[in-house]
Amino acid sequence: MKILVVGGGGREHAVIKALKKNKNVEKIYATPGNGGISADAECVAIGAKDIPQIVEFALQNKIDYAVVTPDDPLVLGAVDALTEKGIPCFGPSKAAAIIEGSKAFSKQLMKKYGIPTATYEIFDSQQKAIEYLKTQNFPIVIKADGLALGKGVIIATTYDEAVEAVKSMMSDKVFGASGDSVVIEEFLTGPEVSVLAFTDGKTVVPMVSSMDHKRAKDGDQGLNTGGMGTVAPNPYYTESVASVCMEKIFLPTVNAMKAEGRTFKGCLYFGLMITPNGPKVIEYNCRFGDPETQVVLPLLESDLLTVMQAVTNEKLAEVEVKFSKKSACCVIMASDGYPSAYGKGYEIDIPSGILPSVFIAGATKKDGKLVTSGGRVLGVTAIEDDLSSAIASAYEKVEKISFANAFYRKDIGKRALDALKESK
Ligand code: AMP
Ligand code: GLY
Repeated sequence: MKILVVGGGGREHAVIKALKKNKNVEKIYATPGNGGISADAECVAIGAKDIPQIVEFALQNKIDYAVVTPDDPLVLGAVDALTEKGIPCFGPSKAAAIIEGSKAFSKQLMKKYGIPTATYEIFDSQQKAIEYLKTQNFPIVIKADGLALGKGVIIATTYDEAVEAVKSMMSDKVFGASGDSVVIEEFLTGPEVSVLAFTDGKTVVPMVSSMDHKRAKDGDQGLNTGGMGTVAPNPYYTESVASVCMEKIFLPTVNAMKAEGRTFKGCLYFGLMITPNGPKVIEYNCRFGDPETQVVLPLLESDLLTVMQAVTNEKLAEVEVKFSKKSACCVIMASDGYPSAYGKGYEIDIPSGILPSVFIAGATKKDGKLVTSGGRVLGVTAIEDDLSSAIASAYEKVEKISFANAFYRKDIGKRALDALKESK
């Protein structure tokens, strides 16, 4: 089989490595992939958002199956465009991807179907938003409606901060058109859990839970990033929490999307907060998380391609989706400065022995050498019998990788380990 993976980050590298385990896979192409992914797939210089060119490439190269993972092409309708031309695909349609593409949509969906989430109001007028803030308690959460690379959320601790956040989104347009309307919502507290789930629109199969580390610096300080590291499973996601989530969140969400005529097929990402009043949805993503995928897929014991095809064919209930009982830790090595300005073009040295557990995100080939080209450069994953060994092993590997200006958090997994100790 010939497979096309649309995207070019660490998440796509993890997807490609997992797909390659299937003996029927002869060839994988990535559009655009990256310099590190080129060791595992043929990278083709077509941008992930360039849907007409992706479709043309897929037709010309007789692609048997396509996997679309980034939010932008999904929200723009890449899966619809490929499916229309007869290429079976993994990923939600444009109509379903709106669950991530518009926070206003997802909040209204949750309200309509009684799915637990923070209470909220939506505004498309700055003046009305500010009037509303005068009546509220703080902290409060301000979110740009559309996609903002995970950065469109501001937690305002005072009225003045909240007004400034609204103005930056609605007048200064720091997130572009994504800030044409804003969601203002209740500030929730509690540990966060990421759950990625396979769904074919009828059946929902949660994958092993994970914990992201969104802030740039140790101790959860610094700016919000796309994610600086992950561990799986997440100790806060106990069996009882999992069963509440299935009954009150996962199934109701999949059924709600179907009832709205927006059947969701693909990987649905539930960003959850375990509040004193039970689990609540912080956000939905219409795709695999990054870097959650880099800990979740290495723990998948079943064949990824088989599961993905079952999703496409609406036969998910018929396949086994089995995860290892081990623990995984992924540490992201970034270029210092990320998520603000950072340098590029530094040569990366990775000993060949650890290459299989390295997922490359922001790197390119220059004169045959791998050099940095992005903020998040790579992720290093280790799998061990328990979390503490997985963390130690991931950092051992990180120590062996070098590039100028490298930066990584030293405390990935610490919160999870503390939680495990507390629960004993
Ligand atoms: P999001 O992009 O919606 O996942 O938000 C980014 C981060 O902001 C989340 O991972 C939370 O840490 C935080 N956050 C978002 N919404 C809330 C909320 N209602 N209460 C508290 N924290 C929140
Ligand atoms: N790591 C968070 C995300 O993928 O949105």
